[in-house]
Amino acid sequence: MDEQLTVGRVAGLAGVSIRTLRYYDEVGLVRPSARTAAGHRIYAAADVERLREVLVYRRLGFGLREIAELVDDPDTDAVAHLRRLRGLLLEQRDRAAAMVTAIDDELEARAMGFGTTPEEQLKAVGARLYETIGSAYPATRRTEPRIAARIWEALGDARTVLNVGAGTGSYEPSGREVTAVEPSAVMRAQRCTRAAPCVAASAESLPFEDQSFDAAMAVSTVHHWADPVAGLREMRRVARRVVVFTHDASDAGWRHRFWLIRDYLPEVAGLVAGRPSVDELAGAIGARLEPVLIPWDCADGFFEAYWRRPETYLDERVRRAVSVWTRVGPVAEQRAVARLRDDLSSGRWAERNRELAGLDAAELGLRLLVA
Ligand SMILES: C[S@@+](CC[C@H](N)C(=O)[O-])C[C@H]1O[C@@H](n2cnc3c(N)ncnc32)[C@H](O)[C@@H]1O
Repeated sequence: MDEQLTVGRVAGLAGVSIRTLRYYDEVGLVRPSARTAAGHRIYAAADVERLREVLVYRRLGFGLREIAELVDDPDTDAVAHLRRLRGLLLEQRDRAAAMVTAIDDELEARAMGFGTTPEEQLKAVGARLYETIGSAYPATRRTEPRIAARIWEALGDARTVLNVGAGTGSYEPSGREVTAVEPSAVMRAQRCTRAAPCVAASAESLPFEDQSFDAAMAVSTVHHWADPVAGLREMRRVARRVVVFTHDASDAGWRHRFWLIRDYLPEVAGLVAGRPSVDELAGAIGARLEPVLIPWDCADGFFEAYWRRPETYLDERVRRAVSVWTRVGPVAEQRAVARLRDDLSSGRWAERNRELAGLDAAELGLRLLVA
C-alpha cells in the first residue's frame, strides 16, 4: 500500500515546514482532502499539485492573497501578475543599489578613520556580544508557540514584516513576506537556508525607506540595543505597525519576584541600571503594553524561562544560550550555580518557592508593546 501523504511527509517532500502547511490549511490555500480516523491531515495527489503551484508563486514573490486568486480562478490573468511582480523586483533592485551605496560610504568613512566615536563604538556592543556567544544560541533558543501566537496576532493582517534583531529567525511568521535585520555575522550564519532574507544592519539605523513594511517586530533584542529609543523610532519610521516583545528592565518588582535574581544573581540589577523602562519605550512610539505570562514549560530558553524548572539552570548549555550569564561574569555565575545546586539538594529552594509548584504561568515582567 502507498505510504499516506501526511503533513510531515508532504512538508519533507516540498521542503517547507509543517507550520507553513498548517497555516495554508487554516487560511484555505491548500486544504488536505482527507483526515485519518485520528484526525491527521492526509493530502491527495491534487492537493500536492496545488501546493506545488502555490510554492512556485511564493518563490516568485507573490503574496498569499494573490496566490489564492491565481490558484482558485482559472481565468485569473497570470501574465498581469507576472508584470506586476517584475515592477516590484525592479523596485527592490533599486533599493538594494541604494543600500550598496550606503555601505560603500560607510566603508570609505571607516577607511578614513571616522566612525570611531564612543557612541558609535557602543552601538556595536549588543551585536559584538553575539559574535562571542551566538554559536551557543540554537541549543536551547527556539520559538515558544504560545508567545509566537501573541506576537503574530499583534501583527494583524500585515503582509510584509521586518524582523529586527532577528537572530536565527525564531518567531518569524510563515505565510507573510519577512525581511530580517541582524547585525551579528555569527547569528546570520546560523539562520536556516529557508529562513527569510537577512540584512546586516542595526535597529538604530535601518536601511529602508519610510513606511516600507506593513509591520516591524523585535523579539528579545531591545535590551541589547545601544539606543533602544532610537531603534524603536526607526521601526516606527519604516513600518506602519510595531510589535516588540521585551521585559521591563527597570521594574524592581520583577527582580524581587524572580527567585533567580533575588536569591542567587543580584548582579542582574547592575546590568539593567540606566536602561529605559518599558513605559518609556512604549511612550517613545505611542505603544500599548500587554503583559505576557511565561508558561511553566516554555520552549524558548530565555533567562526567565525555567522559573519552575530550577535544575535546568545548572546546565551549562542552557546558560551559554542566555547573554545574562556571560554579562555577569564567571565569578557571579559560578557562585550562583553552586548556591542553587546546594539549595536544590538540601530542599531549601523548594521550601522557599513552594507557591510556584501550583502555577502554570508566571508574570515576570515580560511585555508586548504594540503601536
Ligand atoms: C536574544 S537574541 C534574539 C534573537 C531573536 N529575535 C530571537 O527571538 O530568537 C538578540 C539579538 O539581537 C541582536 N542585536 C544586538 N544589538 C542589536 C542592534 N543594535 N540592532 C539589532 N539587533 C541587535 C543580537 O545580535 C542578537 O541576535
